[in-house]
Amino acid sequence: MKVLALEATDFRNLQQVLVEPHPRFNVLSGDNGQGKTNLLEAVYLLGTLRSFRASKTEELIRFDQPRARVRARVEKLGTERLLEVELTPGHKSARVDGKGARAANYFGGFNVVLFAPEDLKLPRGAPAGRRKFLDRAIWNAVPGYLAEAQTYERVLRSRNALLREPGGQGALDLLEVYSAQLAAAAVPLVTRRRAFVGELAARVAEAFRRVTGGLVLEIGYRSELDLPAGEIAGALVALLEKDQRRDRARGATSSGPHTDDLTLILDGKEASAYASQGQLRAIVLALKIAEIEYLTEKLGNPPVLLLDDVSSELDPTRNAQLFQFLREVACQAFITTTSPAHVLLTEERKDFQVLTGAISVEQGAPTC
Ligand SMILES: Nc1ncnc2c1ncn2[C@@H]1O[C@H](COP(=O)(O)OP(=O)(O)O)[C@@H](O)[C@H]1O
Ligand SMILES: [Mg+2]
Repeated sequence: MKVLALEATDFRNLQQVLVEPHPRFNVLSGDNGQGKTNLLEAVYLLGTLRSFRASKTEELIRFDQPRARVRARVEKLGTERLLEVELTPGHKSARVDGKGARAANYFGGFNVVLFAPEDLKLPRGAPAGRRKFLDRAIWNAVPGYLAEAQTYERVLRSRNALLREPGGQGALDLLEVYSAQLAAAAVPLVTRRRAFVGELAARVAEAFRRVTGGLVLEIGYRSELDLPAGEIAGALVALLEKDQRRDRARGATSSGPHTDDLTLILDGKEASAYASQGQLRAIVLALKIAEIEYLTEKLGNPPVLLLDDVSSELDPTRNAQLFQFLREVACQAFITTTSPAHVLLTEERKDFQVLTGAISVEQGAPTC
C-alpha cells in the first residue's frame, strides 16, 4: 500500500499542498504548530474517513473556508486508485476513481496505521484507550467491524438514556427490548476482539522479547462474557437483568463489552502497576509492531505507517529499535519530527520541510 501523490486543499492550515512521497520513508520536519500532524491527519482521513483527534468535521476545514479536500493517488497490490474526500460543515463525502462511494464500500481499499505519542499512555491509561486500540486494529483488517461496533454503541446509548428516565411499565418493557438488542450486538464485539487478541498474543510476545532482550509479555482479553459464542448473548441478558436496579440508580449499563479490557502481564505481573517507564514504552512498541505485522499478513500488503513525533518520546534504545523495525517491514512511512536527528534512517528517504501550512522538499537532505 502506498501513497503515490497527495493533495490537500484548505485542510486545517494546509491551504494548498501537493506532496509526491517516496515509496519508503518520508520525513516531515518543522517546528511545533506548522502543520506536520495535519498532513498525517489528511492521510489518515483517506484511509478511515475519520480524524484521530477531531470530533467534528468543522475542525478540519481551514478557518473561514467553506470546504476542505484531500485527494490522493494510492497503490494497493499493483492497482492504482484515486481517492477523494470532501468535507463541509457536518458532512463528508468520499469518491473512488471519481465515483461517489458510501462509507461501507469505501473501506478496505487503503489502510493506515498511526503511531502517536498518545499511544504511549496505553498501558497505564483507562481501559477505553485499550479497547479503542483493539477496535481500530480489527476494523482495519475487517471493514464490516465498524458497523458492528457502531450498532453496539447506538443501542448502549439508547439503553443508558432510558435508564435515566422515570420508569413506568412501558419503560420496563422497552428496557427488555434494548437489553436483548444489546446482548445480540455484543456477540461480534467479544468474539472478534478475543480472536484478535489471540492472534496478536504470540507476535506481541516475540516483539517484546526482541525489544527487551528476553522479558515475557502476555496479553489477554478480559471480559465477563468470556464464553463460547453461542452463550454470550444469554449471559449478558442475565447480567443486565440482575443489575437492573443498580443500572437505574447509576443511569448507565454496568455489563457488556464496553467494560472489557486488554490485559498486559509482564513477567507474571500486571504491567500497569509494576512495569518501569522504559518497559511500558517497550510494551507499546511491541503492540504496534505486532499490529503492523498482523495487518500486513491479513491484507497481503503492508499498511501505510504514520508516525507522529514518537521518537522524541522514546529513549535512544527504543528509538533505535523502532527504526530497525521500520527498515525491516516493507511499509511506506510518513514520519514527523521536530528534531531530524532522531530519525535514524540514511537511505530510501525523502525530506520535507513544513512551515506555516506549506510543505517543501528539503534540498541537500540525504534523499535517494
Ligand atoms: N481548521 C483549521 N484552520 C486553520 N488552521 C488550523 C486549523 N486547525 C488547526 N490549525 C492550525 O494548525 C496548526 C497545528 O498544526 P499541527 O499539524 O498540529 O502542527 P505540528 O507541526 O506541530 O504537528 C496550528 O497552527 C493551528 O492553528
Ligand atoms: Mg504535531
